[in-house]
Amino acid sequence: MSATILKKVKTAILISGRGSNMTALIEASTADDFPAKIELVISNRLDAKGLLTARAMGVPAIAIDHKAYTGREAFEAALQEKLLAFEIEFVCCAGFMRVLTPGFVDQWPRRMINIHPSLLPKYKGLNTHARALEAGDAQHGCTVHWVSSELDSGEIILQETVDITRDDTQDSLAQKVLEKELILYPKALIRAVSDRDWAKP
Ligand code: GRF
Repeated sequence: MSATILKKVKTAILISGRGSNMTALIEASTADDFPAKIELVISNRLDAKGLLTARAMGVPAIAIDHKAYTGREAFEAALQEKLLAFEIEFVCCAGFMRVLTPGFVDQWPRRMINIHPSLLPKYKGLNTHARALEAGDAQHGCTVHWVSSELDSGEIILQETVDITRDDTQDSLAQKVLEKELILYPKALIRAVSDRDWAKP
């Protein structure tokens, strides 16, 4: 019986900071049967710790400082140029803290996903853990979704929940959710890239 040769989807990860989700994706992608290969990491912040981690893991990692550009479109044009230069087919946003314009998002239809630390559609945007605690929610969690032109609103791919306990603080809740994120994101990436036939344009 001959083994099927898996075509790995050429994937980039966009980050802004620590890169723990990025690390989980790179680690998962080294398995022979994982359908994506992480070929590039881009940070919009020069000091993102994740850049060093990615390089240490053998993945090219570059910074494109959004502050060096006159506006969102100019920054995104630089981002797009790099993604195309590396022949990237799929993009994972992982703790990437820039809002992307519809003009950029439309260039990656069904090819860009994001992880968000809440049970979407609850708590789009920032400070999700504080908002879940403030609301007295019994559960919180994380969501991987397709990126659409509206912030944190694209179709949901996978979610994972955590129970909120009485002694939870923002930090303890963030930690509990992050543990789930690191398991959820690789699973969701597998599901997302299996969504299409990559042999077709
Ligand atoms: C994660 O909670 C992610 O969901 C959120 O920011 C955090 C990023 O952490 N958007 P990291 O950079 O992956 O460590």
